Amino acid sequence: MLLQIPDEMKNTKVILANRPKREIEDSNFDVIIEELNEIKDGEILIKIHDISLDPAIRGWMNEGTTYIKGIEIGAVVRTFSAGQVIQSKNSKFKEGSYLSGLLGAQNYCISNGEGLTPLDISNSKISHHLGILGMPGMTAYFGLLKRGEPVSGDIVYISGAAGIVGSTVGQIAKIKGCTVIGSAGSDAKCKFLIEECGFDYAINYKTEDIDQQLKKFAPNGIHIFFDNVGGPTLDIALLNLARGARVVICGAISQYNDMANIHGPKNYMKIVSARGKMNGIIVFDYVEQWPAAVKEIAEWINDGKIKVKEHTIFGLENFSSALKMLYTGENFGKLILNIGS
Ligand SMILES: NC(=O)c1ccc[n+]([C@@H]2O[C@H](COP(=O)([O-])OP(=O)(O)OC[C@H]3O[C@@H](n4cnc5c(N)ncnc54)[C@H](OP(=O)(O)O)[C@@H]3O)[C@@H](O)[C@H]2O)c1
Repeated sequence: MLLQIPDEMKNTKVILANRPKREIEDSNFDVIIEELNEIKDGEILIKIHDISLDPAIRGWMNEGTTYIKGIEIGAVVRTFSAGQVIQSKNSKFKEGSYLSGLLGAQNYCISNGEGLTPLDISNSKISHHLGILGMPGMTAYFGLLKRGEPVSGDIVYISGAAGIVGSTVGQIAKIKGCTVIGSAGSDAKCKFLIEECGFDYAINYKTEDIDQQLKKFAPNGIHIFFDNVGGPTLDIALLNLARGARVVICGAISQYNDMANIHGPKNYMKIVSARGKMNGIIVFDYVEQWPAAVKEIAEWINDGKIKVKEHTIFGLENFSSALKMLYTGENFGKLILNIGS
C-alpha cells in the first residue's frame, strides 16, 4: 500500500487557548502549526482522517477533574479521532492500518499506541468507529441495557433523541420489544425518529408540551427515562414515571454551559413514590465489553435494524464553528469533522 508521507512534516493543531465562561467561543481556541518530530522506537505516526465532536468536550474545557481531567491550557483539544498509521516503529501497529482513540484535534498524532483501538474498516466507514461503533454507540448500548434494564413491553422515553446516543438507544429499545418515545428540537428530527428509526412517538420539545405529550403517549407512565438533556426535561420526566421505573442519567447537555448553576432536579421524590431508581452511566466502565457490543451493533446495522445518521463538516479550520453546533441543535446526526483521507 502506498502511504502518503508528506515531505514537510508539519502538524496543524487546535489548542485550548482559554476556558469558556459559558458558551464556547472561537477565541477559546488557537490553531498552531509546528514541526513534527521524528518518531522514536515504540512510536507510531498517525494521519488523522476524522475527528469526533462530542458534547463532553465542553466539560473537558473546564478546569478540574470530573471523571476525566480537564484539558490543560495550551494543550491540543482532546477529541476521539480516527486515522491511519503512516509510520511505525511499534510492532503492534502496521503501517497502513487504521485506529481510533483520544488522538486530539490535529492533522497528525505521534503515539506509543497505548489506549488506541485497531479498526477493521473492511465493512464500515472510518467515521462509524467514532459514532455508532465507537464511544457514543457504546454509551447507548450499555446505558440502555446495563443501566436501563429494558424488558419487552416497557415504555422508554429518550430526551435528546435525535443525536447518535439517543437515536441508537431508541433503536435498541425497539429491538428489545419496547415502545419508544423521543423528544428532539425540530420537526425534521422528529420525522427522522419516526420514519427512519422506527420510534413510536416523537415530541418536538420546542413547539409541544413534553408533559402533556407524555401523558397522552404513556398514560400509565414511562418505565425507562434515558436522559441526555437534564434540567427541566428531567423534572418533567420524573413526574411521569411508572412504578419501578429506571432513570438513566447519561448526559445533561442543557446544563453544560453553566455547570455552577445546574437546574434541579426538584421532582426527585417521584423516585420514592414510583419505587424507582436513578442511575448514572460512564461508558468507559464497560470498555472490556466494547468489542462484543461493536459486533452486535454492526450486525444490527447490516440487518437493517439500526439506521445511522451522520453530519459531516470539512476542514480543521472549522473545528470551533462545528463544535458549537452541538449546543445550538444545528447538528443533525453524529457530528464528524473530516480533515481529509
Ligand atoms: N455518560 C457517558 O458516558 C456519555 C458518553 C457519551 C455521550 N454522553 C451524553 O449523551 C448525550 C448525547 O450525546 P450525542 O453524542 O448523541 O450528542 P447529540 O445528541 O448530537 O448532542 C447535540 C444535541 O443536543 C441537543 N441540545 C443541545 N442543547 C440543548 C438544550 N439546551 N436543550 C435540549 N437539547 C439540547 C440538540 O438537539 P435538539 O435539536 O434535539 O435540541 C443537539 O443537536 C450528551 O448529553 C452527552 O454528553 C454521555
